Amino acid sequence: MPLDLVVKNGTIITATDTFQGDIGIRNEKIVTISKAIESKPSVEIIDAKGQYVFPGAIDVHVHLQLPFSGTISADDFKNGTKAAAMGGVTTVLDFAIQQKGHSIMEAVNARCKEAENKVCIDYGLHAAITDWNNETQAEIKHVIDYGIPTFKMFMIYKDEGWMADDGMLFQALEETKKWGGMISVHAESVFVLDMLINRYAKEKTKWGAYAHTLARPYYTESEAVQRAIKWAEITGGRLYIVHMSAGESAQYVHEAKAKGVNVYAESCPQYLLLDDSVFKGENGHLYATCPQIKKKADNERLWKGLIDGDLQVIATDTCTFDTKQKAMWKGDFRKIPFGLPGVETMFPLMYTEGVGKKRFSVNHLIRLTSTNPAKLFGMFPQKGTIAIGSDGDLVVFDPKKKVTLHADKLQTNCDWSPFEGWRLTGYPTTTISRGKLIVKDGKFIGQPGHGRFLKRKAVKRVDL
Ligand code: URP
Ligand code: ZN
Ligand code: ZN
Repeated sequence: MPLDLVVKNGTIITATDTFQGDIGIRNEKIVTISKAIESKPSVEIIDAKGQYVFPGAIDVHVHLQLPFSGTISADDFKNGTKAAAMGGVTTVLDFAIQQKGHSIMEAVNARCKEAENKVCIDYGLHAAITDWNNETQAEIKHVIDYGIPTFKMFMIYKDEGWMADDGMLFQALEETKKWGGMISVHAESVFVLDMLINRYAKEKTKWGAYAHTLARPYYTESEAVQRAIKWAEITGGRLYIVHMSAGESAQYVHEAKAKGVNVYAESCPQYLLLDDSVFKGENGHLYATCPQIKKKADNERLWKGLIDGDLQVIATDTCTFDTKQKAMWKGDFRKIPFGLPGVETMFPLMYTEGVGKKRFSVNHLIRLTSTNPAKLFGMFPQKGTIAIGSDGDLVVFDPKKKVTLHADKLQTNCDWSPFEGWRLTGYPTTTISRGKLIVKDGKFIGQPGHGRFLKRKAVKRVDL
């Protein structure tokens, strides 16, 4: 049977191996990996000479077209997944947020409707639990069997109706443990946070956007992380801390792992590369996100965590708001739409800052951005590696290509970038999604609707 596509002459990189070779794809799957594939002239060939061939990156944390902070995040499923593809991401996981008084599956079905026909790459959903009762508990196994083994709980966002209290978190950890599910938490200490927000609101004109950082010091995250870890320790449930921003939080994960607690964590480029001095600039309000960007010492502890294994995943928490949307704050830090663009720049930024600066190897980058996310979130080995039988999700990456990031050159609907002017060495040139070329020579050629809902598996044992 002829192949559909061959990627030739590249340096193939997985989490564990580096070798020269060709990859053949047929019917969406990788079917051959060898030194030199002979193919018919009719087969599409991508010449990756002098370039790396990576498994597509997986961003397990995006919020596309999310109604939030009185507006809707600016990258929708179509544009957001286009942006992802341009940045070497071939799978995203978004969120279906349960509405109080309604089932989880209602939220899942509604979110799938919003995404289908729009998505240019494969996508999955986490189910965000906001209403814990007997029906929700009974629904957990069904949701996992449906292909959603990961649940999100917010320890803040009372006003949005999303907040889960500790009792809910505890019970959800117990229930998901039975079926191989995992609970992700947005960990911030709601009562201290609200008290500090009220305190700085009284002086909001004095502090401007910097009040956002004053109201969210490191301990508003790390205390909640420590508490969530305690519930994971007691219940034996599997816990994943999203968008970790504080060095002390990483230390708590480190100590818990040493005790055998089933806890994992992600951080994002904004928490690794930026510090809270950004809030002092003229456009400081643009950087408001939640949790807030912290100090240089926090950056360093998070990098160490990614290198040493305290943190296992790099994701983005993409929740894009353009300058017009951010302007809704009108000088009141409580009204800034919280969130940043990120899915398009994550992988090349982490290559330059992680591999280029010799913080870790290129194999480790793949572990953090593709293989570990696939394993933790029930997609491995369909996604997250280059192996016979895996989906043909590949990225050809030129390690010498120099790119200076400018918002107006990116695909995102955002008209500003937290990384404006950053100089990168190394950038994706070609992206392949299930054997289909969707970015060729830096140009998007994919189609909305090509992406599919990804049914993920329960994970009984994590082997990272
Ligand atoms: O500020 C953020 N991160 N917005 C998106 C929602 C969340 O908390 O992840
Ligand atoms: Zn969050
Ligand atoms: Zn988020």
